[in-house]
Amino acid sequence: MNLTIIGSGYVGLVTGACLADIGHDVFCLDVDQKKIDVLNSGGIPIHEPGLREVIARNLAANRLKFSTDVRAAVAHGDVQFIAVGTPPDEDGSADLQYVLAAARNIGRYMTGFKVIVDKSTVPVGTALRVRETVAAELAARGEEHMFSVVSNPEFLKEGAAVDDFTRPDRIVLGCDEDVPGEKAREVMRRLYAPFNRNHERTLWMDVRSAEFTKYAANAMLATRISFMNELANFADRIGADIESVRRGIGSDPRIGYDFLYAGCGYGGSCFPKDVEALIRTAAENSHELKILKAVSSVNDAQKQVLAQKIIARLGDDLSDRTFAVWGLAFKPNTDDMREAPSRTLIAALLARGARVVAYDPVAIRDAKRAIELDLQDEPEWLARLTFANEQMEAVKNADALVILTEWKAFKSPDFDSLKKGLKVPLIFDGRNLYEPDAMREIGVEYHAIGRGG
Ligand code: NAD
Ligand code: UGA
Repeated sequence: MNLTIIGSGYVGLVTGACLADIGHDVFCLDVDQKKIDVLNSGGIPIHEPGLREVIARNLAANRLKFSTDVRAAVAHGDVQFIAVGTPPDEDGSADLQYVLAAARNIGRYMTGFKVIVDKSTVPVGTALRVRETVAAELAARGEEHMFSVVSNPEFLKEGAAVDDFTRPDRIVLGCDEDVPGEKAREVMRRLYAPFNRNHERTLWMDVRSAEFTKYAANAMLATRISFMNELANFADRIGADIESVRRGIGSDPRIGYDFLYAGCGYGGSCFPKDVEALIRTAAENSHELKILKAVSSVNDAQKQVLAQKIIARLGDDLSDRTFAVWGLAFKPNTDDMREAPSRTLIAALLARGARVVAYDPVAIRDAKRAIELDLQDEPEWLARLTFANEQMEAVKNADALVILTEWKAFKSPDFDSLKKGLKVPLIFDGRNLYEPDAMREIGVEYHAIGRGG
């Protein structure tokens, strides 16, 4: 099939590359000329394991093309995936300007039947707005072409995106029941058939339910994390160990082990914004989602917990202290800094006069950019932030090590070198990487989340 992907970011690139990999002819569009130039020169603008190889072999096979040419993009694909960003608006609702711009372009240039697929995470009712936008453009041109808007939310995780896309737990497809909808359903069935090889993973539903399913999934996952974070803080208070509790409850198959890790708060481009957007959608419909409001405020508070532990131990004035920070991206195996807890923690340390030496295996460039933007009005703070090229270099002469992302390389460091590097053996761990007993045995003072203070 000829496919067009509008928006070549984390989701668009993975979708385009993986669909090319099963033989489709894919045109990836973006408005960002720099991104397209990088892609066309064999580079890749994001860190996503395995993606570079998939892109390279499909570029070589001429099944993948990157361009900013909107007209050519719309002409190319029988299926037009909209995979642009839906960032939070000022009031927390999803900003649909990029989705609707994509829809306008499709309406402006389409010349025959198109299946338009909403892959971006969009509030219930957006497919209808996309349909109206395309129809308005067609009417303005005085043309009539059949099209259908399908909701096909994406559930991939960054850092495991290629695997998640190619081996999905489920494929959610919301289609209309009218004639164009039936035609679109058939196209989508054929498109996703290779992903259903061993058993059927497609869940067919109405468009609004598909749109809602995406938010419900992210909201449920965020709820589990905030719930565990709240229990972890309480465990600290009462002298219990959240890791034992996690294993104790996760062993019940009705609960399961996944997404029960307490930490320094969830970040990323999705949970924070999607929880807020769902709360806003509810408010617009005169409905209050009380649990989700709590999930969001627990997470905001959780991003401060490690700073509070540091202050409780070292005092509020940190002006003669240096902190090594390991892990800047919002999670391992990505360079994505959106809503990363490191941004909050580093700002809190700098605000109290500390010096920070930060390290991340892949996100240093993006971290620099993000933190410089956050603190553009605080040049004096920024002057106290430096970046190390190597993890052990960061800890040299630091008063403490702070861990914010569970990169593999941080899980079993050479503790002798670590202790030699640090002024005193003191670790604040926002990801519970080590065993408190083992740390005690080797003489490291260890503060984690929900593990006894
Ligand atoms: P992103 O910011 O990485 O990429 C979006 C891209 O769209 C950018 O490159 C931007 O330049 C481009 N763009 C904007 N307007 C355009 C237009 N009119 N025409 C062509 N290109 C345009 O965003 P992302 O992380 O890939 O997320 C995209 C959507 O997918 C969001 O709704 C997000 O919530 C959802 N989602 C993201 C993930 C994830 O892990 N990142 C997972 C599932 C769903
Ligand atoms: C998340 C979902 O997992 C995907 O299914 C979804 O498609 C995506 O959002 C999206 O809609 O964009 P992602 O944000 O890439 O994926 O990463 P996650 O692995 O879910 O982690 C999100 C945040 O939660 C990270 O900051 C992580 O550290 C934190 N987390 C995760 C915890 O604190 N505890 C856990 O047990 C799990």
